[in-house]
Amino acid sequence: MGDEKGKVCVTGGAGYLASWLIMRLLQQGYSVRATVRSDPKYKEDTTHLKILPGASERLEIMDADLSKPNSYDEAINGCVGVFHVAHPINFKPENPDKTVIEPAVEGTLGILRACLNSKTVKRVVYTSSGSAVAFSGKKDLKVLDESVWTDVDFCRGQEMPISSYFISKTLTERAALGFSEEHGLELVTVVPSVLVGPFLIPHFPSCFSIALALILGDREQCKVSRQMQFVHIDDVASAHIFLFECPEAKGRYLCSSNDTTIHTLAKFLSNRFPEFKIPTDILSEMEEEEPIHMSSKKLLGLGFKYKYGLEEMFDGAIECCKQKGFL
Ligand SMILES: NC(=O)c1ccc[n+]([C@@H]2O[C@H](COP(=O)([O-])OP(=O)(O)OC[C@H]3O[C@@H](n4cnc5c(N)ncnc54)[C@H](OP(=O)(O)O)[C@@H]3O)[C@@H](O)[C@H]2O)c1
Repeated sequence: MGDEKGKVCVTGGAGYLASWLIMRLLQQGYSVRATVRSDPKYKEDTTHLKILPGASERLEIMDADLSKPNSYDEAINGCVGVFHVAHPINFKPENPDKTVIEPAVEGTLGILRACLNSKTVKRVVYTSSGSAVAFSGKKDLKVLDESVWTDVDFCRGQEMPISSYFISKTLTERAALGFSEEHGLELVTVVPSVLVGPFLIPHFPSCFSIALALILGDREQCKVSRQMQFVHIDDVASAHIFLFECPEAKGRYLCSSNDTTIHTLAKFLSNRFPEFKIPTDILSEMEEEEPIHMSSKKLLGLGFKYKYGLEEMFDGAIECCKQKGFL
């Protein structure tokens, strides 16, 4: 297969979602420039990318870092599209303003300037997160849609280490949409809930500390995960490509297929994976609640369809964890 669909750049290419997205882009005929950090402190093994079908002909791995906002110019020049997936993922950072929030926002603006200057990039797809929606501070909200935003001041007041992730995702998505509006750069944002499913990366996906908290017996995490929405990694990768290719796509798109509470998830996991001891005693300390619905109406309205349910998400995740010796 030749360079049929053109060249696209995927930032944070070695990560959990990005590597899966790259696999799908290569399968669909795109040529891909994946950016990774070359700093020895963060350098990732990229063997899982190099062995992908089509990689030897159509995958280039290039060096770029969000802390150096101009470092993406070379990777983006000549691309028709950019999937900006990279984000500092550190749920307990020291000095979060400097180590998480600033590189996320300034690095993203550097990427968008490179897209504008390239004159070749037709559309940018930015990977946001349900964290940019779910912490609005409005207690009675039972349905989340694209009009809802996380309240940054509310998060700053919570004094939880993970707050810097919610804040950085919110400020980065707002900055990206603002830049696109101001400069007429086509940009859509994908706002996924918690990803679950199989993985290509050689290490344990960081988001599994949330999704698999019940299986891992992480009682502290369970206590702060009363409401959880999930989506299969392959559906999220498909949504990125769908929104890149769909001419009518504009603005934000929530991407989430299953709403759960800690109670419904515990029942599901106990039935499906009886080999794991789910700490059900902590559930008695938590009231049963109605699940909060993260609505994908806007995405589905464009014709997108989810392929996977909760069963495939957790089967894929647990199977990969077992194969790689993490469970
Ligand atoms: N997983 C989820 O449940 C979930 C849900 C909603 C949204 N998201 C979003 O999806 C994206 C991917 O997340 P993931 O779960 O795949 O996590 P991940 O595996 O940790 O991927 C994050 C990527 O960002 C890169 N990165 C971190 N700091 C960087 C920096 N300073 N400069 C350049 N690259 C940097 C990492 O590069 P290194 O490989 O060099 O560390 C890594 O490749 C993120 O934007 C995240 O917010 C994830």
